[in-house]
Amino acid sequence: MALIGVFDSGVGGLSILDEALHQLPEHDYIYLADSLNAPYGEKSSEWISARSLALCHHLAKQGCDAIVVACNTATAEAIAQIRAELSEIPIIGVEPGIKPAAMQSQNGVVGVLATEATLNSDKFNALLATLPAHCRIIKQAGAGLVPLIEAGAANDSETLELLATHLLPIQEAGADTLVLGCTHYPFLRQSIRKLLGDSMTIIDTSEAVVRQLKRQLEARYPAKENESSRSTLGAVCFISSKDEAKLQQMAQELMNADLAGHALSAARLTALES
Ligand code: DGL
Repeated sequence: MALIGVFDSGVGGLSILDEALHQLPEHDYIYLADSLNAPYGEKSSEWISARSLALCHHLAKQGCDAIVVACNTATAEAIAQIRAELSEIPIIGVEPGIKPAAMQSQNGVVGVLATEATLNSDKFNALLATLPAHCRIIKQAGAGLVPLIEAGAANDSETLELLATHLLPIQEAGADTLVLGCTHYPFLRQSIRKLLGDSMTIIDTSEAVVRQLKRQLEARYPAKENESSRSTLGAVCFISSKDEAKLQQMAQELMNADLAGHALSAARLTALES
């Protein structure tokens, strides 16, 4: 079985870990949350890229067989460099699903809610350039949402009000499809439905990201995949740069996965060795 590192600025990547535990429950996981430094989305490209790289090196040193950069912002700013420096293991990134959104939209108007850094990144803009010309993309930065989710306030009225102001331009433009371009936002799904109704198509790429992880594991480690799959569930270690007990508690609250059958542990991320 493989050891998989999943990294995010905070609790957002738990939406990816949740799907990973659903599709690949027998593997072991390290979930690394840099909550001390969240949100990443309003920091400089240079900072995001250097920090993401350092954290992925840290995961590789823990013996991870693959790393999921479960953060759109870190993927946008650093995935190429992470892949170049850690070429011996599969590195899976996440990016806003604007291609599937463009294909599924009936009227060609698609809203994208993501961080400022993701929306301004070269990688996102290169992705936009590949879309069919008739497709209109309404970009909206979700400023302020990540700190509220980090604080455990995903379902509070203050969060609903802020979300409503961010979604308004997307509604006014007549979008029929909304891309969740930040891994924190699936935890706002209920509020998004409340505000936009059932007819809005919501695109969340976590399922596709984990399918890609599965493909990469099968290709890179055929032996590990063929080991008569163990019947027990894998272990999950929660590492946080801020508060590991809180991280584990939030994982239990936010995720659908039943963590009870997994061996759980938690640790503090202290100084990173250079
Ligand atoms: N969850 C992250 C993302 O997908 C980062 C959000 C942030 O830290 O600003 O973009």
